[in-house]
Amino acid sequence: MAWGACIAALLLLLLLAAAGGGNGGVHCLEEGSMSRSRRALQGRHYLRSRAVGGATVLELRHHSFSSAPSKSKEEEADALLSSDAARVASLQWRIENYRVIGSSDAAAAAVAASKAQVPVTSGAKLRTLNYVATVGLGGGEATVIVDTASELTWVQCKPCESCHDQQEPLFDPTSSPSYAAVPCNSSSCDALQVATGMSGPAACGSADQPACSYTLSYRDGSYSRGVLARDKLSLAGQAVDGFVFGCGTSNQGAPFGGTSGLMGLGRSQLSLVSQTMDQFGGVFSYCLPLKESDSSGSLVLGDDLSVYRNSTPIVYASMVSDPLQGPFYFLNLTGITVGSQEVDSSGFSAGKVIIDSGTVITSLVPSIYNAVKAEFLSQFAEYPQAPAFSILDTCFNMTGLREVQVPSLKLVFDGGVEVEVDSSGVLYFVSSDSSQVCLAMAALKSEYETSIIGNYQQKNMRVIFDTSGSQVGFAQETCGYI
Ligand SMILES: *[C@@H]1O[C@H](CO)[C@@H](O)[C@H](O)[C@H]1NC(C)=O
Ligand SMILES: *[C@@H]1O[C@H](CO)[C@@H](O)[C@H](O)[C@H]1NC(C)=O
Ligand SMILES: *[C@@H]1O[C@H](CO)[C@@H](O)[C@H](O)[C@H]1NC(C)=O
Repeated sequence: MAWGACIAALLLLLLLAAAGGGNGGVHCLEEGSMSRSRRALQGRHYLRSRAVGGATVLELRHHSFSSAPSKSKEEEADALLSSDAARVASLQWRIENYRVIGSSDAAAAAVAASKAQVPVTSGAKLRTLNYVATVGLGGGEATVIVDTASELTWVQCKPCESCHDQQEPLFDPTSSPSYAAVPCNSSSCDALQVATGMSGPAACGSADQPACSYTLSYRDGSYSRGVLARDKLSLAGQAVDGFVFGCGTSNQGAPFGGTSGLMGLGRSQLSLVSQTMDQFGGVFSYCLPLKESDSSGSLVLGDDLSVYRNSTPIVYASMVSDPLQGPFYFLNLTGITVGSQEVDSSGFSAGKVIIDSGTVITSLVPSIYNAVKAEFLSQFAEYPQAPAFSILDTCFNMTGLREVQVPSLKLVFDGGVEVEVDSSGVLYFVSSDSSQVCLAMAALKSEYETSIIGNYQQKNMRVIFDTSGSQVGFAQETCGYI
């Protein structure tokens, strides 16, 4: 009832905002118990897909693998945020690794390359918020995590040395007539070595096993190891013959739990985007649904803009190109606006940030984060502050309040391109009684790290990765399976 009233307030505010060109939104504080629907999601079904016009549309779902569903909301948030911090640390390490490998310092490159082959088992209990889609591979189906920071698609393969639980039957190379191992002396194997920083002989196994082997170590304790292979990939019935992927016989990492593996959508030669250049022109886009609403989003491959349901025109920000960038999508973040106030920070001069589908909370270099935090505190001065929670340190006690006026949050990219974050992506509700409601952004450890725009701030938005035009488009969209 009060929930309904708040929805009405939200609608009213949206109307006012539309009329006034406006700012912010109302966030309702009575979050229902959504754990039931979330658990229901885990009794999974294949996600839908279809081909329409010049595009292939895959249904996207939020994936939250929970081994202990009885956990409290705080415990869940804590596990989520610490695993997100591990992902951010892992990305920082990989960015640095690519930089070193790409540099002319051969000794440093050799050290970095040897590190890249060693899976690091931190023992962290990882579980993360991610988005999954279902594709066809060989004769079967595979539900995979969609990751814009990964260079290679991989699935768990028989015979499994070590595999996590997954919904679908394991991929079995022996039962797929179109399967072939990728030989060591192939250009794909060379590309893999470039992509992962592995040196030649290590990737090529022994003389009696001339297959090209791979190791993807995510540094947060999760990894996938196996051989590079080819098979028929099927996207909504559209076949991609000879698709190169990792056939992983040794895999570890709770973030992958329940899924068959990962779809690499990075900006590198072996990613799905590059391998489907002929079909889809190097363009894909997604709309990430809200976690709570049990709703679907979509991953669209191809550049047919007519299938989108965006409610605002698409604005494009240029990608920053860098030969040493690895699979990452870099943009030039030049400003942030909170409410109508532009935040002032010297940190914007560093420019380069990553936009990532697999990181949850946006992490900013300290100078930018502190400026955003200060502005937020001044605009939220009427609410009592609450203690920090995990990586979130700008928190408020909103117990007893019916609703809260959320200031708008805009990211500004080079060229004056403004992207407004959906109001659901501004605050993170740690506790069910609203006694800890935090700004959903975190500070990185140092100015030398790279800021990352996470998926919490990309919800209800069409985000278009146009690798051919070297630009990323944004538009508001209420996500659904289109
Ligand atoms: C790779 O090695 C095999 C077996 O030694 C050979 O037959 C084939 O021609 C080689 N392919 C390339 C591209 O060098
Ligand atoms: C939050 O505020 C409520 C009501 O003002 C108070 O009773 C409660 O102790 C506060 N909780 C925390 C964690 O500060
Ligand atoms: C980012 O944009 C600013 C402002 O237009 C520009 O001065 C700077 O060179 C850009 N940085 C990069 C890495 O492109």
